[in-house]
Amino acid sequence: MNAILLDGVTLRLGGRIVLDRISLEIADAEFVGVLGPNGAGKTTLMRAILGLLPLAAGRIAVHGQPVRRGNRLIGYMPQVRATTALRLSGHAFVAAAVEGDRWGLPRLDRAGRLAVDEALELVGARALARRPMVELSGGERQRLLLAQSLLGRPRLLLLDEPLISLDPHRQGEVVRLVRRLQRELGIAVLFSAHELNPLLGALDRVLYLGGGRASLGSVDEVITAPVLSRLYGAPIEVVRAGGRIFVMSGGQDMERDAHRHDHAGTRAGFGA
Ligand SMILES: Nc1ncnc2c1ncn2[C@@H]1O[C@H](COP(=O)(O)OP(=O)(O)OP(=O)(O)O)[C@@H](O)[C@H]1O
Ligand SMILES: [Mg+2]
Repeated sequence: MNAILLDGVTLRLGGRIVLDRISLEIADAEFVGVLGPNGAGKTTLMRAILGLLPLAAGRIAVHGQPVRRGNRLIGYMPQVRATTALRLSGHAFVAAAVEGDRWGLPRLDRAGRLAVDEALELVGARALARRPMVELSGGERQRLLLAQSLLGRPRLLLLDEPLISLDPHRQGEVVRLVRRLQRELGIAVLFSAHELNPLLGALDRVLYLGGGRASLGSVDEVITAPVLSRLYGAPIEVVRAGGRIFVMSGGQDMERDAHRHDHAGTRAGFGA
């Protein structure tokens, strides 16, 4: 059975169509990188799969079931992440997400404690459990966020920009960790990112969004001048060098530019 099925899905936000009649299927143990410029709809798509957004048209199924809020089959790492929990220990931070309550501090029963320990173990963060979040590096915090998303043994992980603000070395560690978990647990992962290169070698397929449309396939099928020119609505060149791939427009690296805008805290309009 598919992990995700989209059938003619249209998503509209603030009167604007973000994704237009998208149909695709993602297998139940597949690592899919979700790429596309700022505003392409990566976060919106994840929110729709979580049942947080009404569909303007079409249908989405997760493991054969219609989308619904609070679906325990899905683990989610949102793009906007809270920093208010910095005084908590790593263990308390993960525990705060048990029962879907990210902010309260529940008194965990034995099953809850076991679930937290299991999630910490999966991401190799047992040693971080007692330390306060404020002391941890970005990569270590990212591991705890990943542990949160693994609580309840989801069959599908939606990870929205887990690489943001990590240096290339930490980015590589996060990608390898997610790939290992995805394989060991036999689950599906949607992993959004601004740059393809950190994901090369880990992903099974890439889902590229742009201009309301989507293209899903292998890197060789999707990361091509014709496909990306259609999604960007502008002439795109794809340059391969040193095992890396660059998506260029008029001599500018589109993915790097998107990344820089993100760090600056501004949002580039689509195609800007
Ligand atoms: N609540 C909202 N109301 C109106 N428009 C919205 C709302 N949320 C998002 N949008 C718009 O929907 C479009 C898609 O946004 P989305 O956050 O899904 O893009 P994204 O691909 O995740 O971008 P980024 O790479 O910057 O994270 C953007 O144009 C955004 O401005
Ligand atoms: Mg986003």
